[in-house]
Amino acid sequence: MTSALTPFQSNHFDTTPQSVHIELGARSYDIRIGHGIWADPQTWQGLPKAAMALIVTNDTVGPLYEAQLRDAIQSHYPRVETVVLPDGEAHKDWQHLQLIFDALLTHHADRKTVLFALGGGVVGDMAGFAAATYMRGVPFVQVPTTLLAQVDSSVGGKTGVNHPAGKNMIGAFYQPSRVICDLSVFETLPDREYAAGLAEVLKYGPIADVAFLDWLEANVLGLQQRDPGVLVQAVRRSCEIKAWVVAQDEREGGLRAILNFGHTFGHAIEAGMGYGEWLHGEGVAAGMVMASELSVRLGLLPAEQAARFKSLLQSVGLPVIGPRLPTSGDTQQAQVYLDLMRVDKKAEAGEIRFVVWRDQQVAGVQTASDELVADVIHACLSH
Ligand code: NAD
Ligand code: GLY
Repeated sequence: MTSALTPFQSNHFDTTPQSVHIELGARSYDIRIGHGIWADPQTWQGLPKAAMALIVTNDTVGPLYEAQLRDAIQSHYPRVETVVLPDGEAHKDWQHLQLIFDALLTHHADRKTVLFALGGGVVGDMAGFAAATYMRGVPFVQVPTTLLAQVDSSVGGKTGVNHPAGKNMIGAFYQPSRVICDLSVFETLPDREYAAGLAEVLKYGPIADVAFLDWLEANVLGLQQRDPGVLVQAVRRSCEIKAWVVAQDEREGGLRAILNFGHTFGHAIEAGMGYGEWLHGEGVAAGMVMASELSVRLGLLPAEQAARFKSLLQSVGLPVIGPRLPTSGDTQQAQVYLDLMRVDKKAEAGEIRFVVWRDQQVAGVQTASDELVADVIHACLSH
C-alpha cells in the first residue's frame, strides 16, 4: 500500500537550508541541503564519533574540495586521512575499490572509523560499498558534489562497483549516516554534468509529482542559470520524492523501480554507444522521451503532456532524440535497442518491463509488445 506524498510547497524561493528525513527505522537519516552549509558546525553535529575519519575522493574533486571538507570535520575527528581515486566510471571496479581497503588498513581503521564520500555518484557508490563491507560495516557520510549525486545516487543506499559483464553488478544496500548537499560545489561543475543532473531532477515530475513538474517548467530560467533559491527547492523536492519512494521500498521489491523512468531506454543508449560517450543523465533524457511516447501510445498519457516534457528537457540542454546505435551488418535499429534492453535489471525471463508515466498518478511498471516498442524507438530516433 502506497502512503501519500506530501504536497509540493512552492511558495518560497529563499536559500534557507533545508532538511529532508528519510524514514527507515534504525537506518533513518537526514539529508541536509543548502549553500555553504559545510561551514556551519551544525551540519556535522550528531554524526557517529570515531578516532579517525577517512575522506574518499577522486583526483578531480580532491584538489577542489578536500581541504575545505577536512577543515569542516577536523574538530570532530582527532585524525582525518584521505584516499584519492582516479576519476571516472572506467575505474569504478573491484581493483580500485581495493585502494579504499588498502587506505583503511594502512591507517589502522577500526570498526568506528567514518568514511566521507566526497565526489559524484562514482565516488559515492564506491565509498558506500567499501563502508558496507570493511569489517562487515562501518558508518559513512555522503558529501555529493554533482547534481546527479545530490538528487539521486547519494540517497537511498544503493552502493557498488561495475563488473566487466555489467554496470553496478556487485554491490549492497547500505544506508549512509547523513547526506550533506552543499550547493556551492556547483560553481565548478561543468555544464554538461549539470545538465545531466537536471535530467534526474526532471524525472521526479513524471514519476510522482505533476505540480513539481509545472513548477520546474515555470522556473526553467532559474534552473538554467543555477539560481540558488530555485536549486534549493529543486534539490529538496527531488530528495523528498526519493525519500518517499525508498522509505516504502528500500530493496526494490516494487515501487522503487519507478525511479528508473526512462532508464531502460537510457541504459541501452549508454551501453550501445559505449560507456562514456553519452553521460548517464543524457541517456536518461532521451530515454524519458521514449518512455513518454510509449505511455502515450499505451493510452496512459495525453500527447500534449509528453510534448511539453520533451520541450522542457530540450530547454535545459538535454538530448531528446535517441542516437542510432552502431550495429554489425544490417540489424534494424529497433532490434539493437531491444536486444540491449533485454539485459536490463528489471527484465524478467527475457521480458522487458518499462516504467510508464500515468497521467496524474504515480508511475507504474508494465510490459509492451516488441512491435509497439519498435514503433516508439523509430519515432524517437535521429534519421
Ligand atoms: P561522476 O561521479 O563520474 O561525476 C561526474 C564528473 O564530475 C567526474 O569527472 C567528477 O570528478 C566531476 N565532478 C564531480 N563533482 C564536481 C564538482 N563539484 N566540480 C567539478 N567537477 C566535479 O558522475 P555522476 O553523474 O555524479 O554519477 C554517476 C554514477 O552514479 C554512475 O556510476 C551511476 O551508476 C551512479 N548512480 C548511482 C545511483 C545510486 O542509487 N546509487 C543512482 C544513479 C547513478
Ligand atoms: N537510482 C535508482 C534507485 O536509487 O533506485
